[in-house]
Amino acid sequence: MIIENFEIEQQLLQKQAIVKENDIKCLSNILTQTFQYPENYFILQIGDCAEPFKDSAIDIVEKKCDFYLQMANMLEVYLQKEVILIGRIAGQYAKPRTDSLETQKGQTLPVYRGDMINEFEFTTKSRQIDSNRILEAYTHAKSVVTHIDSYIFRKNIEKKIFTSHEALVLEYDRGLTRTSQTSLKKFNYSAHTIWLGNRSRDLNGPQIEYLSSVHNPIGIKIGPTEPNQDFLDLLERLNPNRIEGKIYLMTRLGANLVHIYLPKIIKAVKQLKMPVLWCVDPMHGNTFKIKNGLKVRSILDILDECKITAYIHKKMGTCLSGVHLEASYEHVSECINTSKSHAELEKYDYYTSMCDPRLNPDQVKRVLKTFKAGPILKPNIQNNITKELLI
Ligand code: PEP
Ligand code: CO
Repeated sequence: MIIENFEIEQQLLQKQAIVKENDIKCLSNILTQTFQYPENYFILQIGDCAEPFKDSAIDIVEKKCDFYLQMANMLEVYLQKEVILIGRIAGQYAKPRTDSLETQKGQTLPVYRGDMINEFEFTTKSRQIDSNRILEAYTHAKSVVTHIDSYIFRKNIEKKIFTSHEALVLEYDRGLTRTSQTSLKKFNYSAHTIWLGNRSRDLNGPQIEYLSSVHNPIGIKIGPTEPNQDFLDLLERLNPNRIEGKIYLMTRLGANLVHIYLPKIIKAVKQLKMPVLWCVDPMHGNTFKIKNGLKVRSILDILDECKITAYIHKKMGTCLSGVHLEASYEHVSECINTSKSHAELEKYDYYTSMCDPRLNPDQVKRVLKTFKAGPILKPNIQNNITKELLI
């Protein structure tokens, strides 16, 4: 998304970097190690779907850090691997949206696109796009990183909390891009890693041109479509030197479709000999709306997508190296614990997400446990997958 306010980009170019170059390089190195020694590392990328500006308050940042670290530690115990912790934090302020308008009680207004772009409140004024919010986003992201650093230092925590956001508002990402004084390479200093959303993958678009110019590790979301030539060209463009682990693919195919598309995607990437890391985002392929328009997800679908994804990688000789979750440290009721057919009956009395439904801490623990148990599947699902693998 380009807001076309180049003045803002110029102003950002004058500002201090948000993250340190050494930490970006540290993440790049550890991801290369993950590619080379997959038995030693696993990625946990976790955080809000849409991060509100108000969450840059120190007490909230610390609660998030506590929660993310606790989940990473639990996963380390389960897997006996070092967990690389990446927050969807300190910049996850812009959202791609399927519908551009939203109707409430007969009134139709532009949809909320994240605090970097407009306000959540449902009024004409709040929903107007305001490019000055990009500068505000910088200030909030900078405070969040300062709070994370001071928390890690004060509590003497050894693990790093890397930061990430979706690459969407080009003025923001380009405005925080600098050439390293030491390596003369370009880095995006707004986050350690950024990812390309499933809806921003236009090969000839400016987003891809930008991402191919920076040396941060890059994530790519992959939805349930055939892995066509554009997809393969995208991988070539983003990693022409085939640096191991520079790209992490996050498949978000949905519990019902993963067995159809994942084998094809894996085959295509294998043929290309592109050294990627494989992660699963079990959230974004499993979203549906209930009658009142609320977006929800069932934990049962989320668990199934994790298990099926792990099973297919095992069968195809590739390694699942990470999981990408939308989650809250609070006990929100945004994802349901029952199946889709009971969705209307659930209570959604603690729904504070401004975009997609997040897992609460108990639900995150259930998801992480699936990676401990290994891919155990019901025989009928196994049979379905076996058929697809033979095609
Ligand atoms: C997201 O991560 O919030 C998102 C919009 O994902 P996707 O691009 O996979 O739909
Ligand atoms: Co989301």
